[in-house]
Amino acid sequence: MQMIPVECVVRNIAAGGLVKRLGVEEGIALTPPTFELFLKNDEKGDPMINESLAETFGWATPEQLAKMKVLTFKVNHILKALFAEGDMLLVDYKLEFGVFKGEVVLGDEFSPDGCRLWDANTREKLDKDRFRQGLGGVIEAYEEVGRRLGITFPA
Ligand code: CDP
Repeated sequence: MQMIPVECVVRNIAAGGLVKRLGVEEGIALTPPTFELFLKNDEKGDPMINESLAETFGWATPEQLAKMKVLTFKVNHILKALFAEGDMLLVDYKLEFGVFKGEVVLGDEFSPDGCRLWDANTREKLDKDRFRQGLGGVIEAYEEVGRRLGITFPA
């Protein structure tokens, strides 16, 4: 698969970069959910881009971006419900896509490293923010996410 160097971020609840960038309150519901594009470029710190820049610089075509947006929201629909069954809120997440046999398909992984998950009742963080914010209990939180999804771990 030929990876497209554009990250798609959907947010259902304000957190992380959005809170920093816009100064909105962490935890507010985002209705409708937002959709953002970032360029995969470590040197530049994955800067925010838009569809016009992606087209002009050849990172993705408008058709590819349209497909990526549809698929990203489809994933939101499915995963929000899946995590809700485990009493978790899917706060935000990042997806990457690539081209395989001429088709835009989902690439990369999906894990608490690339999304934010909060306990639906206490809003306790169950994702990489535990590491980023030095909250500790990273492995325990990831295992808890797995358990709530019905995944069992070897002892
Ligand atoms: O996570 P951070 O505050 O740096 O950026 P964000 O824009 O708030 O990230 C939104 C979501 O995308 C979070 O769930 C991040 O974990 C994920 N993300 C990622 O997995 N990889 C990146 N390079 C950027 C964001």
